[in-house]
Amino acid sequence: MSDLPISVRLNPETGIPEQYDNHIQRSLSDLKGQFQNEVEYYRMMAEEDRLLYEVYELSRPHVSGELLTGVSVIHSGLIGDEFVMTKGHFHEVLETAECYYCLQGQGAMVLENPEGDCVVEPMQEGSIVYIPPRWAHRAVNTSLKDKFVFLFVYPAHSGHDYGTIESRGFRKLVLYKDGEAVIVENPGWSAQGSE
Ligand SMILES: [Fe+2]
Repeated sequence: MSDLPISVRLNPETGIPEQYDNHIQRSLSDLKGQFQNEVEYYRMMAEEDRLLYEVYELSRPHVSGELLTGVSVIHSGLIGDEFVMTKGHFHEVLETAECYYCLQGQGAMVLENPEGDCVVEPMQEGSIVYIPPRWAHRAVNTSLKDKFVFLFVYPAHSGHDYGTIESRGFRKLVLYKDGEAVIVENPGWSAQGSE
């Protein structure tokens, strides 16, 4: 891999980088157990394992000193009354931060630390959210028609711990109620995890 500087243009219409190394796609089946309304989840799965979000990533070595950057595109829609969202994760190296910059659409970052603090930060075009070390993060698209597109940057040695969130969820949910996004306590949250 070259150590020369890299310059990439984002497509002005879509926000997607014109060059990238990895294209990761996550569908309904990748988020099994993450949505509250399981009946609706399986009904939708029976119809189509629809695409929920995509990540376009520039590849760099996963070592301290490097940064990983790219663009995430969260598609719109509902699973029951829950907006399309990412799996969410802690960083495996907990003491690593991340920064998001919203390019298009509107959404929310659900953030939670191991001590149990949980906050939801709204995002719209031009917003930056800085996630300090130790905070798990999940992106939620709060629009029913537009994509939520953002650029991310994080230390390349961070790694991902998806398992903690997969087993117990976040303490807060972002739901569609009466025509708007509302934040509620997650009744399914489990301190021990569901495994
Ligand atoms: Fe992250």
